Amino acid sequence: MDIRLIAASFAEVETECLVTIALDHGSSNNNGAKQKSEPKLAVKDAALEKAVGDLVTSAEITGKSFEAILLHQPPGLKATRLLVIGGGKAKNFGPVELRKAAGTAVRYLKPKMIKSCAFVLPDLSTGAEDAIRSVVEGALVADFDADTYRSDRKDLRMKEVTVVAAPGSDQSKLQRVLDQARIIGDSQNFTRELVNEPSNRMTPTMLADRAKKMCDSVGLKCELMGPDKIKELKMGAFWSVAQGSEEEPRLIVMRYEPQGAPEKPVLGLVGKGVTFDTGGISIKPADGMEKMKYDMAGGAAMIGAMRAIALLKPKVKVIGIVCATENMPSGKAQKPGDVQIAMSGKSIEIINTDAEGRLVLADGLHYARTLGCTHLIDAATLTGACVVALGHVNAGVFANDEDAYQHFTRALQRSGEKFWRLPLDPEYLEMIRSNIADIVNSGGRYGGASTAAIFLKEFVEDTPWLHLDIAGTAWMDENKSWIAKGPSGIAVRSLVEFVKTFENSN
Ligand code: BES
Ligand code: MN
Ligand code: ZN
Repeated sequence: MDIRLIAASFAEVETECLVTIALDHGSSNNNGAKQKSEPKLAVKDAALEKAVGDLVTSAEITGKSFEAILLHQPPGLKATRLLVIGGGKAKNFGPVELRKAAGTAVRYLKPKMIKSCAFVLPDLSTGAEDAIRSVVEGALVADFDADTYRSDRKDLRMKEVTVVAAPGSDQSKLQRVLDQARIIGDSQNFTRELVNEPSNRMTPTMLADRAKKMCDSVGLKCELMGPDKIKELKMGAFWSVAQGSEEEPRLIVMRYEPQGAPEKPVLGLVGKGVTFDTGGISIKPADGMEKMKYDMAGGAAMIGAMRAIALLKPKVKVIGIVCATENMPSGKAQKPGDVQIAMSGKSIEIINTDAEGRLVLADGLHYARTLGCTHLIDAATLTGACVVALGHVNAGVFANDEDAYQHFTRALQRSGEKFWRLPLDPEYLEMIRSNIADIVNSGGRYGGASTAAIFLKEFVEDTPWLHLDIAGTAWMDENKSWIAKGPSGIAVRSLVEFVKTFENSN
């Protein structure tokens, strides 16, 4: 998708379809009774208002979220069509809503074989830069479809999006923001492509090769390590998961060390890259097991984030680590009751071979510390319990350090992604004590997201650390008007923004 920026009067834009947003300025009264909507366009522009005139006054356009109304040959405009997208209540309209509205427009136009459109940049109270980021990221994310292997796949991609700023805008500044948003949106889609691949087309070696190819193309150092090196490093927890599979595991290390960056901090981004999770000997039920191809979404998020970081070039050191393996049952597979020694030296009693994500991350996180990381953040499709707690709406976030958590909340304000903090009280540690070893790898049914998180905490010790449990949000089971069902690319934007918050912070 080409994206270009122009500053022009909206009526003069020649395009297949001009897109604008309508907001509802009606307020609901105290008893909550529905009031008539008061739709208004999100930009003040006489020509646009005139073009939609009747539809607004007749309330055919209400401004309701994701409403889409397409006009042909809009009077007074040079555009062939005018698409009016509802942005919801005016008082709630911000970057998050705009991102979805822009996505809704792209997904509405794609099946109509409309290949180019022009977005009227709406007025946002937080400013034109936020508006441009939302439109660009929203449009890119919306352009992705998951039907890679369908013979009847139509190439519905949007060829060109023009962002139309008001005449007199500071174009060079907005262009910079647009370029950055494009990097982030493309990186999120890159992650989604990786996650979308089935496990026979995205083995640990293939994931590693894709990471390497990406690193080569953006100038990152990349090191790939196989079984011998993993054993040599004494990654007993990681290897215990990998040992049951015919497919070789890979430890992927991507380094971003820009010139002029301070020695510290060094941020470690550690991802769970389980390319298929059968559960191992504690095998999962057949029903729904096919979804476990997305158990590498945390790792893929790190690879996408490293791509964006390499291109955005913040002055801060970042190391991306992905522990890629399958989790398979076989004659070589680990069994419940087995005891494994992690790289850190801690002993782990395996209660359930399906709690494998924490095993690979235990060694990934410890390894990151040995490489000198001063701050850690991991992302993983770690627990069904997190899905039970938060559904498909919020991802879970855990933190052992308030300052690091503050950095993350600042990142969320920019990324617009939804995360909810879950607890890490020391009492959860009591739930994973073992008789025979230091800890068990499963705390049972209750508080499963927190017992998994406290397990990881045993391996980060005092290093400031955040854990993102994206089990419920990495895959969308249903189409939304702004995003296709399938891999969501969750966490990529927040990870990139998180890294940026450390620029000049020490
Ligand atoms: N990959 C799963 C978690 C998962 C569940 C991801 C649903 C996406 C959707 C993880 O490896 C797992 O199997 N966790 C177990 C842990 C349990 C055995 C302690 C779980 O949550 O059931
Ligand atoms: Mn599992
Ligand atoms: Zn898993």
